[in-house]
Amino acid sequence: MKIDGTHYRSLWWNHDNNVLEIIDQRWLPHEFRVIPVVTMQDYADAIYEMRVRGAPLIGATAAYGMALAMAEDASDANMDAAWTFLEKTRPTAINLRWALDRCRVALRPLAEGDRAVAALALAHEIADEDVEINRRIGENGLAIIREIAAKKPAGEPVRLLTHCNAGWLATVDWGTATSPMYQAHDAGIALHVWVDETRPRNQGALTSWELGKHGVPHTYITDNAGGHLMQHGMVDMVITGTDRTTRQGDVCNKIGTYLKALAAHDNNVPFYVALPSPTIDWTVTDGVAEIPIEERNAREVTHVQGVLDGGGIGMVQVTPEGTPGGNPAFDVTPNRLVTGLITERGVCEASADGLAGLFPEFARAA
Ligand code: MRU
Repeated sequence: MKIDGTHYRSLWWNHDNNVLEIIDQRWLPHEFRVIPVVTMQDYADAIYEMRVRGAPLIGATAAYGMALAMAEDASDANMDAAWTFLEKTRPTAINLRWALDRCRVALRPLAEGDRAVAALALAHEIADEDVEINRRIGENGLAIIREIAAKKPAGEPVRLLTHCNAGWLATVDWGTATSPMYQAHDAGIALHVWVDETRPRNQGALTSWELGKHGVPHTYITDNAGGHLMQHGMVDMVITGTDRTTRQGDVCNKIGTYLKALAAHDNNVPFYVALPSPTIDWTVTDGVAEIPIEERNAREVTHVQGVLDGGGIGMVQVTPEGTPGGNPAFDVTPNRLVTGLITERGVCEASADGLAGLFPEFARAA
């Protein structure tokens, strides 16, 4: 997407010095910093420390990590070591394992001498595919927004609510939940987006930054405000992203998504999830029972990052010294609370039949 007239993806290959470059998201929305990812440790740190984040983006990043591993040592042993090293960085988003599996399956049959070139080409392919998947999710989500807009009095905006950042920063481009928003805005449909702050890491600030750069009207709200807004008829539709969706349509996403789905259900507000097919885990059925939830450092809860009064970016402690913090990073929304899944192949019910109808080849193979 464009930032001040220049088109960016969230990562790109620098052909001059043959390294991956990323937008270091730890500094956004305050500073726009681009950093190279050079060593295998850099790749693992970039994912674990959330310099890159968002399920599709960490998958694409891992694919480039596998390309580096193959350039350094293309043996089977190193391929397996790289798989393990990168896969353990974040446990919940399935795109990470999906990308690493795809690389290993494609590279294993090749002669060692051919693997480095093939791995880099595959990483580019995975990145490009992500862009196209998200563009199509946007088209399919746009159709839903159009229907809602058609029922509203002329000039009244469609009021959307989103949680976390499932924007272009969380993917290679377009975003998943934001792609319908960008396409609706570009099509001239009036929108207003309620952006949940998404404590503890405030990914909503990234969404606000993105929407602001694209000119989409929005308001940043506390995580606790959504239910109140829905009760007062101020939300027409919720759209979120997902880190892993099960074969029966249970949706794992950023912590707090479940509470928004409950509030939406109680207020008859449609709750949609933008779901790229690499985020479907066909091996898992019951999301609550089976998806591992990442527990992150308590410091993310006891401290908040921001621009300090005296200038500069820093961490501020918000709890008494020594307060224990708990930090589950994701939760699971059962399929019964999800109105529909917006995929690159169309919109379906959040159910085993719904997903199998759109992706019969994957459902059969699982
Ligand atoms: O912890 P994060 O910031 O990586 O979590 C991101 C989310 O939960 C997103 O909603 C999800 O990955 C979908 S991104 C298209």
